[in-house]
Amino acid sequence: MRIDIITVLPEMLEGFVGTSILARAQKKGLVEIHVHNLRDYTTDKHRRVDDYPFGGFAGMVMQCQPIDACISALKAERDYDEIIFTTPDGEQFDQPMANTLSMAKNIIILCGHYKGIDYRIREHLITKEISIGDYVLTGGELAAAVIADAMVRLVPGVIGDEQSALSDSFQDNLLAAPVYTRPADYKGWKVPEILLSGHDAKIKEWELSQSLERTRRLRPDLLKE
Ligand code: ADE
Repeated sequence: MRIDIITVLPEMLEGFVGTSILARAQKKGLVEIHVHNLRDYTTDKHRRVDDYPFGGFAGMVMQCQPIDACISALKAERDYDEIIFTTPDGEQFDQPMANTLSMAKNIIILCGHYKGIDYRIREHLITKEISIGDYVLTGGELAAAVIADAMVRLVPGVIGDEQSALSDSFQDNLLAAPVYTRPADYKGWKVPEILLSGHDAKIKEWELSQSLERTRRLRPDLLKE
């Protein structure tokens, strides 16, 4: 999988992309993540990528030219499955969407900024608009990081135990069961007895009952779906 992220704040994403599981996934050759500075694509001599909106509204709007130039340069090199724009008025990101996107070969994520981007880019170049939740961030970089992280960890081989991605909260519309590690007794705080029993079938049954109980209590909306 290859992910190209287009942003006016590349430094915000470079640390994230070069750290931990994403860094390891790239070293193993399982994913490639490229961060592009939108300012490298403007024809403006002051490297500006935004301008005042028509109609006299407040705020600045990202211009068509640098975005079109960057996306066109990438599309000239390879075909993309999706060209994503991160925006609070997009489709809500969730686990099924991450699952679908994780099967893609090439993806572009354009990070929104300022008041927004010239709507013609959304009409003509963007294939999918994604929001990570009903709140407004200062820019789309954190949203792009969230989407990239959720996709990459599902690529086979990226996390050690593939079983563990499948048993995540939300994969079956259930929250995960609690997990514990040594010591079995910490300051009198005890691990549930059943987990020490070595009885696999009973442990599985316990995990499912915990998942159901936690989902009913914390996210009853998931059970209705
Ligand atoms: N940009 C600003 N807020 C956002 C959000 N909630 N989701 C995606 N992109 C955004």
